[in-house]
Amino acid sequence: MYSMILKIHSISVTIFFLIYFIKTLLLLSNANDKLEKFKSYTKILEMIVSVLFLITGIYLITQIPEIKTMLIIKLILVVLSIPLAVVAYKRSNKILALFSLMFIVAAYGLAEMSRTKKIDKSVTDGKSIYEASCAVCHGNDGKLGVAGASDLSQTKLSQSEIASIILNGKGAMPKVEMTDDQANAVAEYVLKNIKK
Ligand code: HEC
Repeated sequence: MYSMILKIHSISVTIFFLIYFIKTLLLLSNANDKLEKFKSYTKILEMIVSVLFLITGIYLITQIPEIKTMLIIKLILVVLSIPLAVVAYKRSNKILALFSLMFIVAAYGLAEMSRTKKIDKSVTDGKSIYEASCAVCHGNDGKLGVAGASDLSQTKLSQSEIASIILNGKGAMPKVEMTDDQANAVAEYVLKNIKK
């Protein structure tokens, strides 16, 4: 369920921003006739993707264990940039369009930055890493299941398979940046202490 909604969210966000970038480009390059044409072609598609984008976004927020500052800043930037863009296209105002574009680029950058977590190289103990970066979704006993996280007490994977999932991510699970040794230590901890 969660990963399907995440997929719909990513697709609708991508289409939404594609339309948005093309409109901003047309506005900034004084192609007003083309902008009007493009707006009328994409009107219905834009309405559909905006609704999907919002509904899935709200659902995803309700599934997040801790609302992070980063996420709040990202939300404010997106929420500010959309009405700015609407007014900018209506009045053909380039300055507003540029501001709106800046907000969106900043929000996208923040989203990318917070997607991958980085673990300090000095931490080598599997348990501490697990508790700091896995337990939010999997829980200390492996069974929490936030955001569709697998039950780790029932995992059938080998240590190297687990280490590889940690380093590469899987579906709705973001990759967690750490060294191979750290990933191995966490994988070992999962098999020895969490797996039943
Ligand atoms: C944001 C939530 C989240 C975090 C943080 C997270 N996971 Fe996951 N994890 C998931 C989700 C969701 C899945 C299911 C992915 C799928 O199958 O599409 C998953 C799947 C897994 C699996 C595969 C289990 C199986 O038997 O198939 C392993 C192993 C795993 N996670 C280990 C970890 C470890 C170790 C960490 C910490 C380094 C971690 N996860 C951090 C959400 C998370």
